[in-house]
Amino acid sequence: MLAAIVDRYGPPEALVIREVPTPEPGPEQMLVQIHASVVTPSDVAFRNGELWIARLFSGPFKPRLPILGDAFAGTVVRVGAGVTGFAVGDRVAGSTGPELAAHAQFAVLDQAGAIVKLPDGVAFGAAAGLCDGGLTALPFLRDNGRLQAGQHVLINGASGSIGTTAVHLARAMGAVVTGVTSTRNVELVRALGADRVIDYTKEDFTAADAAYDVIFDTVGKSSFARCLAALKPEGIYLSPTPMLSPSMLRKTGRRARFAATGLRRPADKAKDLVQLFDWVRQEKLRTVIEREYELAEIAAAHARVETGHKVGSIVVNMPVTSMEP
Ligand SMILES: NC(=O)c1ccc[n+]([C@@H]2O[C@H](COP(=O)([O-])OP(=O)(O)OC[C@H]3O[C@@H](n4cnc5c(N)ncnc54)[C@H](OP(=O)(O)O)[C@@H]3O)[C@@H](O)[C@H]2O)c1
Repeated sequence: MLAAIVDRYGPPEALVIREVPTPEPGPEQMLVQIHASVVTPSDVAFRNGELWIARLFSGPFKPRLPILGDAFAGTVVRVGAGVTGFAVGDRVAGSTGPELAAHAQFAVLDQAGAIVKLPDGVAFGAAAGLCDGGLTALPFLRDNGRLQAGQHVLINGASGSIGTTAVHLARAMGAVVTGVTSTRNVELVRALGADRVIDYTKEDFTAADAAYDVIFDTVGKSSFARCLAALKPEGIYLSPTPMLSPSMLRKTGRRARFAATGLRRPADKAKDLVQLFDWVRQEKLRTVIEREYELAEIAAAHARVETGHKVGSIVVNMPVTSMEP
């Protein structure tokens, strides 16, 4: 099969498309032909090795995992003898988890993994995007923020993958939503359902006074300290980037949470995917996609994600080859 391989830390051109052996599914596993995956800021961090925290996970000197990519959508093409819930031909989507390997034509998934059948009519690219943004935004808002109907939530980075999904979800949860983005994305964020949109090039959202029950900085561009005044006294600050200082939390006595949602149990992710795709089916949720790239263009996809200004998801479509029986 073809895969995007990274065997040294470096620029997007460090990625090479290479023929590698197709993995074999075990008895409780299935082989999924990947049609679409997404390139995320995590993939970029695991490819360029610039953050020490990424190297803790992906190897101090060279990438431990040669094939990146987590969120995927595709078709089951082979099942192990013990697989009961899935069959050849099923359209599926999910998250490969910490072992990544979705930037390839095929990947092996456990039947008990973070994988669900796709409802009819959901495109592979949109499904893969939701498996990234949805599986992060939902646990943050529901479990960490415990967002309630009527509460005021601010989503910073509202035009990103997590941000666009968070705006949708927060609206669906009945919250009053303020989205923060730059001028060119203001209309998009409004169209996603934000009650108010702040253009960060013109206004500093942290200047507000006790305005929000939840501040979800999806892109880690603010800080807990800077957001304190804008949070209500019982409000909570949420961040998917590990920037929180324990001493700051102790000193202020205020509430903040970081969570590594990508490391949640596969069964919990699968349960959330069922819910997320149900909302898609009911047209309460949709994935925003900036652009779809071919596998051969994956370096360009990485370069775009690395700018920090993508809108929604950057999808990579895999070349489809037929499987021998
Ligand atoms: N903790 C976890 O388990 C977990 C899981 C998934 C992802 N993450 C992390 O979460 C972060 C966000 O991921 P993502 O894929 O949603 O990011 P993303 O899509 O790459 O975010 C891009 C968006 O951020 C906006 N942005 C850039 N600078 C901004 C600023 N100063 N203020 C407000 N918005 C700004 C951009 O809007 P403009 O172009 O308009 O500026 C752009 O639309 C990444 O760091 C990722 O690694 C963590």
